[in-house]
Amino acid sequence: MKGSVPGLVSLAAVALASTAAGAGEVSVKRGAQVAVTAGCHDCHTAGYSESGGKIDPAAALKGVGLGWQGPWGTTYAANLRLIAKENGSEDAFLTYAKNFQARPPMPFFNVHAMDESDIRSLYQYIVSLGEAGDHVPEYVPPGEEPKTPYIVIAPPIMPKG
Ligand code: HEC
Repeated sequence: MKGSVPGLVSLAAVALASTAAGAGEVSVKRGAQVAVTAGCHDCHTAGYSESGGKIDPAAALKGVGLGWQGPWGTTYAANLRLIAKENGSEDAFLTYAKNFQARPPMPFFNVHAMDESDIRSLYQYIVSLGEAGDHVPEYVPPGEEPKTPYIVIAPPIMPKG
């Protein structure tokens, strides 16, 4: 029994090596992995969360027209294909990704903290997805009613002390 364990372990290692892209590598494959593990599809790909993590190639990272409303107003997860295209090059996208700011619930600080190789890979993956498509609806300031459906992220109701 014990003798078979190392064999199984090395088989598992071979399987892993053939599917996972390595950290530090710059490739479309690594970018695809980063987009999943960093959570970008969660908000930027229509249908991803609802389907339990299936990526519709036609919708991947094209943004979502469902709003997020809170004290900041109503925001829409941007079309990242257009953002990559507008940046125009991998180097420009790297500078942008290290510095941009955005309203909630966008965790822009997580993107700032990414390794350079992950950001470069993400750019290559986004560009590989094909035609850029259209912009998502415009940001709506607080107090104005959005024209789309939206999710309300309200401050919690605290019990009275
Ligand atoms: C919890 C949902 C959520 C997650 C997770 C998320 N985003 Fe966003 N993202 C948004 C929303 C909403 C906006 C629009 C914010 C605004 O209008 O200011 C946005 C905007 C952006 C923008 C555009 C900012 C601009 O200049 O207009 C970029 C770039 C971006 N996200 C990249 C990413 C990347 C890369 C990931 C994965 C690491 C990611 N986002 C994960 C919700 C999310």
